[in-house]
Amino acid sequence: MKTFSFIIAAAGLGERIGGSPKQFRLLGGTPLWQWSFHVAEELLALGKIQEIILVVPSDSITSIKKTLSTLSEKTSFLVVAGGTTRSQSVRNGVAMASSDYVLIHDGARPFVDKELCITIMDHVNPNLGVIPVVPISDALKKIEIVEGEERVSSTSREHLYTTQTPQCFPRLQLLEALDTDKDLLFKDEAEAWIALGKKIVTIPGARRNMKITYQEDFILAHQIASNNREYRVGNGFDIHPLVPSRPLILGGVEIESPLGLDGHSDADVLAHAVMDALLGAAGLPDIGKLFPASDPQYKNISSLDLLSRVASLLKEGRWDILWVDVTLQAQLPRLGSFTKQMEENLGKRLFAFEMESEKINIKVKSGERIGAVGRAECMKCTAVATLSRWRR
Ligand code: CTP
Ligand code: MG
Repeated sequence: MKTFSFIIAAAGLGERIGGSPKQFRLLGGTPLWQWSFHVAEELLALGKIQEIILVVPSDSITSIKKTLSTLSEKTSFLVVAGGTTRSQSVRNGVAMASSDYVLIHDGARPFVDKELCITIMDHVNPNLGVIPVVPISDALKKIEIVEGEERVSSTSREHLYTTQTPQCFPRLQLLEALDTDKDLLFKDEAEAWIALGKKIVTIPGARRNMKITYQEDFILAHQIASNNREYRVGNGFDIHPLVPSRPLILGGVEIESPLGLDGHSDADVLAHAVMDALLGAAGLPDIGKLFPASDPQYKNISSLDLLSRVASLLKEGRWDILWVDVTLQAQLPRLGSFTKQMEENLGKRLFAFEMESEKINIKVKSGERIGAVGRAECMKCTAVATLSRWRR
């Protein structure tokens, strides 16, 4: 079986775009480099690649490592310091790689898709490099300044293509090719490879796999990204009986009451409905399947701790929580004064920032003395959650 390392070059200065290095700017709320990183993560999860190597400016290594450790507990990755040229950065990454083949990708190409990567990997072999290319579609002009004047001439676009990434090569042979220029000034890996007279094949790239180089490219990328979001809604429901000598815990708030909710965990009916709404929207199994009552580890567990686990699952699926609307049906005691605290408790587990608990809206309805809720035999709760994420 061929093994692959996915190397993301993200150590440039972004001089042509100006301002802060472009790879750290946000595209659709996500730093540019993370777009490629997520594609690499998907390839890793599919077993198509064996490692991810991220090449960044040396002064960003610590913060990137920290971000990555919170982003994805499961992904194995290396963070390597870049060099002063793109080729030096790539060489630093390749030197740390351990697979048979390396896929080199520009961190400034956020819209690469995994199918393109897989096609490239399928074509590579021990004597062959593979690169994605797209034909040039515009008419070409050569513009020179001669004696202070612009001299424009036409040039044929026949046989001309632009080269994209990822580019894929056998690792050791690529190292050898890169080392033929001690200054490492190659514009891409293919240049080094071809200079050694080695064989290369091209496969069709994708116009969408654009490189963000100028400010205008960023604007275009924002437009592509904003059409590229998916939205989901999930609903959740739960019911628990009210019994004497159990605490009454709702939304993580313990409330003085002669009756409490019975259940295997702390029976926080509100947190349970919220979790099922979130899991439902993400297309994940419900809490009964994820945290089965038959499993002793969940005996009397705080439902807020289970909510934190649900939050990690959503993070893994790249879901953002847009809104959670909750209706609790309870006859007694009066609960209106506790809803803010409940919203804050849930918010702390679901969001990075305190103010985001505003995205949780809890309402309480009495049972109007009708039915099981009205007779204070039980409490019921329904919740609706809206999630959203960037399509890749
Ligand atoms: N790159 C790198 N190390 C360098 C230079 C570039 O890892 N010393 C990376 C960039 O971060 C980018 C990719 O190579 O993801 C493509 O390079 P380019 O578009 O040229 O990015 P910059 O070099 O950052 O931009 P500029 O040339 O405008 O300064
Ligand atoms: Mg550059």
